[in-house]
Amino acid sequence: MSELLTTEKQLLANLKEVKKAPKKKFYIETLGCQMNVADSELIIAMLNDEGFIKSNSPQNSDLIFINTCSIREKAEEKVYSQLGRWDKLKKYKPELIIGVLGCMAQNIKQDILENKPFVDIVLGPDSYRKLPDIINRSISDKKSIVDTKLSRYEVYEGLFPKRKGGVNAWISIMRGCDKFCTFCIVPFTRGRERSRSIDSIVTEAEDAVNNGYRELTLLGQNVNSFKYDNYKFHDLLEIISQISGVDRIRYTSPHPQDISDQLLEIMRKYDNICNYIHLPLQSGSDRILKRMHRSYTKDEFLILAKKIRQILPGVGISTDIIVGFPGETEKDFLETISVMEDVKFDSAFNFKYSPRIGTKASEYEDQILEPIKQKRLEKVINLQKKHSILRNQKLIGSIQKVLVEKQSKMSPDHWAGRTDSNKWVIFGKGKAKLNEMVNVSILDSKGVSLKGKLVNEVKSA
Ligand code: 5AD
Ligand code: SF4
Repeated sequence: MSELLTTEKQLLANLKEVKKAPKKKFYIETLGCQMNVADSELIIAMLNDEGFIKSNSPQNSDLIFINTCSIREKAEEKVYSQLGRWDKLKKYKPELIIGVLGCMAQNIKQDILENKPFVDIVLGPDSYRKLPDIINRSISDKKSIVDTKLSRYEVYEGLFPKRKGGVNAWISIMRGCDKFCTFCIVPFTRGRERSRSIDSIVTEAEDAVNNGYRELTLLGQNVNSFKYDNYKFHDLLEIISQISGVDRIRYTSPHPQDISDQLLEIMRKYDNICNYIHLPLQSGSDRILKRMHRSYTKDEFLILAKKIRQILPGVGISTDIIVGFPGETEKDFLETISVMEDVKFDSAFNFKYSPRIGTKASEYEDQILEPIKQKRLEKVINLQKKHSILRNQKLIGSIQKVLVEKQSKMSPDHWAGRTDSNKWVIFGKGKAKLNEMVNVSILDSKGVSLKGKLVNEVKSA
């Protein structure tokens, strides 16, 4: 009997020890697109559930992760320089666990095994469920652990993100890409397209609304390729728009090929679906579009943009443009300029072509010289600035519904928020509060944003 008591006492003492053991802290840095932001939110939730605590400083953490991006060389360079700094940190703190997550995992794994022994964990975008287990193994084994296998099915069903706060909740609805544009690494780093179930997306959307998020952004590498049972993207959008309390819905990033008439009709029908479409052009030259393996011609793109503006008056249209794709002549480049002149996008993300190892375009022999790429980039940036100002000026004198998102960087007395059509507006705070939908009278267009004055509050949070 007394022996039993002793064992029980010991067990209790051990339990107390475990409880007393300080919880491990982790730091996570996220680079790249919103998909990565959403993935990091999933990882944070998973680690929190396992008892790890999120920290805002790598110096004060036991585990540090970088969620990486491979879309262009610059993004990869950022990861290498951060890893250089973390290597030094680990010299002072040898028990530190360093993890490289996400899109670069695939490409970097060989380099890490051979040259970067200070990295303990390498996990690809479909392996995050294993992270808690792998951390525990890494603590006990002290060996690098690599898992970059891509899955045909993983959509992280049943896992829900830990969001940072703010007005917008990112909701990942599909993963991967089957389009294989010849310049793009995504199909290789993120694998095949797969969609989440409607039920789990709706549960996550309802949960976000119940937690005070007024704007939902549906995310996917090819968001409008979403397909689940017989539901297509426009069906999902309609279902989400009917959830009570959803004030705004956005989605990114779509492919022009899958912008269907039904999608435009649903956008027109529901007020809470924002009047904004991202329509990546990439190039305006038919010859280059074909080489890029984009599935539309210049004329088809122009017809689509026109149709979007007809069906959705006042719509904001943004785009992505790549200059200096292999073989791009001055004539091809001028075709891109001509589409820009024709559509007059509201905004654009402009890039110099960056060869990605493993993609078809990186093997083309007619690569463009850097100074030519640079000159073309400057031209599209300058032209786009003009178009953005032109589009913004059209709103002067109008009253726009704006969701108050954050304090303006310019002044502590001003809020910054976006219009339905995705334009930033800066306005005096007045009585408006964060997360409120307010009416703002647009007074001026300043650079790429708008300046306004609060009219009256439309709806309180
Ligand atoms: N070089 C330059 N830009 C690229 N993008 C994708 N891959 C590359 C690359 N290799 C751009 C495309 C895409 C956006 C997300 O990034 O414009 O739409
Ligand atoms: Fe990349 Fe093209 Fe897929 Fe977009 S559609 S992720 S650009 S391959």
